[in-house]
Amino acid sequence: MLARNCFVLLVVASGTVLTIVSFSLQFFSEITTTPVVEEKPLQAANGAVGVSQVKSRKRVFPVPQTQNPNPIHEAVGYCNIPNRTEQAWEGHSPADYTLLSVQIMIRHGDRYPLYSIPKTKRPAINCTLSITRNPSHPLLSAFISHMGQGGRGHWESSLASVPRLPNHSACEMGELTQTGVVQHLRNGQLLHQAYQHHRLVPSNWSPRQVWVETTGKSRTLQSALAFLYGFLPEFDWKKLTVRHQWSALFCGSACDCPARGRYLEEEQRRQYRLRVADAELDRTYADMARALGIPTRNLRAANPIDSLQCHLCHNLPFPCASMKDGSAGGCLTTAQFAVIRRQQLDDEVDRRRAGLYRKYAILAMYPYLNKTAGKMERLAKAGKQAAKARGDDVFTLSSAHDLTVAPLLSALGLEEAVFPPFAARLVFELWKSPLGTQAEKKRVLRGEKLKVRNGGYFIRLLYNGEDVTFHTAFCSSIVRSASQPLCPLKNFLSFVRKDVLVVVNATSYQEACFRH
Ligand SMILES: *[C@@H]1O[C@H](CO)[C@@H](O)[C@H](O)[C@H]1NC(C)=O
Ligand SMILES: *[C@@H]1O[C@H](CO)[C@@H](O)[C@H](O)[C@H]1NC(C)=O
Ligand SMILES: *[C@@H]1O[C@H](CO)[C@@H](O)[C@H](O)[C@H]1NC(C)=O
Ligand SMILES: *[C@@H]1O[C@H](CO)[C@@H](O)[C@H](O)[C@H]1NC(C)=O
Ligand SMILES: *[C@@H]1O[C@H](CO)[C@@H](O)[C@H](O)[C@H]1NC(C)=O
Repeated sequence: MLARNCFVLLVVASGTVLTIVSFSLQFFSEITTTPVVEEKPLQAANGAVGVSQVKSRKRVFPVPQTQNPNPIHEAVGYCNIPNRTEQAWEGHSPADYTLLSVQIMIRHGDRYPLYSIPKTKRPAINCTLSITRNPSHPLLSAFISHMGQGGRGHWESSLASVPRLPNHSACEMGELTQTGVVQHLRNGQLLHQAYQHHRLVPSNWSPRQVWVETTGKSRTLQSALAFLYGFLPEFDWKKLTVRHQWSALFCGSACDCPARGRYLEEEQRRQYRLRVADAELDRTYADMARALGIPTRNLRAANPIDSLQCHLCHNLPFPCASMKDGSAGGCLTTAQFAVIRRQQLDDEVDRRRAGLYRKYAILAMYPYLNKTAGKMERLAKAGKQAAKARGDDVFTLSSAHDLTVAPLLSALGLEEAVFPPFAARLVFELWKSPLGTQAEKKRVLRGEKLKVRNGGYFIRLLYNGEDVTFHTAFCSSIVRSASQPLCPLKNFLSFVRKDVLVVVNATSYQEACFRH
């Protein structure tokens, strides 16, 4: 009974549906999967012939587990500490393909905790930017001075008053740290290099070719600017408009969807049942609360994993109770942190098994997917008329949260992918081949009269630099080969227009959202 009341309290206290998502997802919010170990090349997993991925060493997918994953390794991976060179498979394709557009969804970079643990000192992190602090970046200094001219840009609605740089010597709750800025400068620079020879965004780009949108939080806005600066150094502010997405789901004018909330509530009940059945987790919270001298309930409500994760990412010792009389209080331990994370990993497995989250995710991300598909289709149609001309919207950057990227992965059928770490990136590339597939091209070269199928348009999807196209729900059935190296755009379009809705037993978004 007590347990049931706690759940109700949680829901009531958090208000609207969206804040329920954000509050309670916090529990699966810090999840990553699998340890950092050498991965088998992707093509071994799906039986397809490798094209460009043989050298891939990213850890986007878990390796099959022979033993339980180490929760601390997972947690370190989640930090995404920018201390090593990264491989990026963006921009790879057969030589004669043309890159038409790139749409990117990022998660903000490393941030200060959203919650503080009662009776402890908050982690001491300085959120001003300084080139002498680690980690730094060669572009950091120029980035700081460029942001000083941000007033020349066009800012939609309330974004104009959001600070363009983190600038507090004691970080505020949820503020982007220097690590977060550096993560996205690096991401932007990586993609600058990846797309340079494709001349994706011409140096004299027009305002209609670059679309930047962000939620209203300073950490997403600042992440977007750092990414954009790495991608287009010294970009012309006067050409830039930054759009505001009011919902973390990027659902624009199609956010109203009662069924989404129902799936989410069911999912939360599942999550809650799993949590209360975990005796080790219960004992751990009780131990932690005792060490700090506070009621267990207060400790749970303070969501300690969020703050502990920040300590870990910044290499700070876990906090101890600060007692009024000056005596030494108890301290929180790595072992306790590991138990909470272990339970989150169990929850991920159970979540996939139950399938409720995927239904929630499909309805949550449908409007974004539909918009993304619509842009690609428009570009493909325009490309038919003027093969050389670059269309509008060749580059789209959406700066978001784990609450956005996690359901997007799920909706795309990438449920096995690791939970989005700080500064995660998901990239949609649209490609054009001059003559349909390689196979069709060969037949044309042999002199066959042939109506080229697929319109010659293809999609690639990359998560944190790794090509995951053939792991998605819309392309996993395609056997990749030399004659079919990429996934046809039509697979993605038909997935978004119809196939994905089968999971929620509907033929339209409206029907799925409003029927009972
Ligand atoms: C980067 O940081 C992580 C976490 O502190 C550490 O495990 C790893 O060895 C570091 N890598 C390099 C190349 O320094
Ligand atoms: C940061 O804040 C300080 C004091 O408020 C101000 O003097 C400084 O110009 C700010 N720096 C940036 C880059 O905004
Ligand atoms: C934070 O960093 C800035 C820049 O390095 C420095 O001037 C300031 O004194 C630091 N503040 C604190 C509280 O350490
Ligand atoms: C999907 O996109 C089309 C335009 O491509 C638009 O007309 C339609 O309203 C969108 N549907 C939803 C549910 O967002
Ligand atoms: C799917 O929807 C149809 C029509 O709305 C309904 O008749 C059927 O019972 C539903 N199936 C399931 C499994 O809910």
